[in-house]
Amino acid sequence: MPNESGFVPRELRVDVVELAIAGLTATPKTLPAKLFYDAEGCRLFYRITELPEYYLTRTETALLRSLGRSLLPDGLHDAALVEFGGSDETKARFLLDLRDGSGEPVFNTYVSVDVAETALTELRQRLAVSHSYLKTVPIVADFMAPLDLPALDGDRLGFFPGSTIGNLDPGAAVEFLQASRDSLGPNSWFLLGADLRKPPEILLPAYNDSEGETAEFNLNLLRRLNREAGADFDLRQFRHQAIWNADAGRIEMHLISARDQTVHVGGQAIRIAREESIHTENSYKFTPRIIRDIAAAAGWDLHRSWTDAANYFGIFLLRYA
Ligand code: AVI
Repeated sequence: MPNESGFVPRELRVDVVELAIAGLTATPKTLPAKLFYDAEGCRLFYRITELPEYYLTRTETALLRSLGRSLLPDGLHDAALVEFGGSDETKARFLLDLRDGSGEPVFNTYVSVDVAETALTELRQRLAVSHSYLKTVPIVADFMAPLDLPALDGDRLGFFPGSTIGNLDPGAAVEFLQASRDSLGPNSWFLLGADLRKPPEILLPAYNDSEGETAEFNLNLLRRLNREAGADFDLRQFRHQAIWNADAGRIEMHLISARDQTVHVGGQAIRIAREESIHTENSYKFTPRIIRDIAAAAGWDLHRSWTDAANYFGIFLLRYA
């Protein structure tokens, strides 16, 4: 339960050394995408969202803005909005600003679950100014872990925008939706934003932009390991690669070694061959049918969905009756 300051206290230290060594000694080599998001990684990701090639954020935001009240199930009122991975309330604001038939705000509570404690503190301060009536409950937690939500009496709507679901492997996506269903409980709703399948000519530039921001974002992972895991990666000896894996239906990001080399991480020597890849991220792309199936496997019914005119991005309203 939240303490007086509204936070659910939890120890969230990610063991960067352990995660890095486990990934780099596996075959093929991997690094978990969650390590992208140190302060610099968050800043670089924000820049990615503003790039012309990265259509995801722009398209989803336009959908949220234009759909407004029609995104919400009829009769939702005095409700709690529970955002998973919501270190920034920009998208939630489109929902928090909605009013019901009698002109009252639909949401009286906003629960935001994220690992970034400082960002949550700032979010809470901003909302205290712009939405003074709103009860804001930041929960410092990894949204993949089972969650103890504070008691929420009224209607509940989970919110997971940005196609972050695409960064989870299908099994993990089902697990996440199952866990969020258990946290939200029966009679709840869930709004999910998901990037849709489209030709690689559109997908690939979004992950290999002309300004090199995505390459920087990818390489920053190694910079983080140098700083936090006592590693000695020479960033000039790796290059960013983004590929479309048609069989798996996902964009993959890799760091490719320019030569045979030995790096050290937390005191352990790791050999990397020339042209060997470190697989850093998957970004799955969906069809409405895949979303329906993943949701169903997690116990959610697909109630409604919307896409933009070009069918680039989808918003899905799920129901747990
Ligand atoms: C956060 N996530 C949805 C982004 C994506 O598109 O998969 C992360 C990202 N990776 C490279 N560019 C953006």
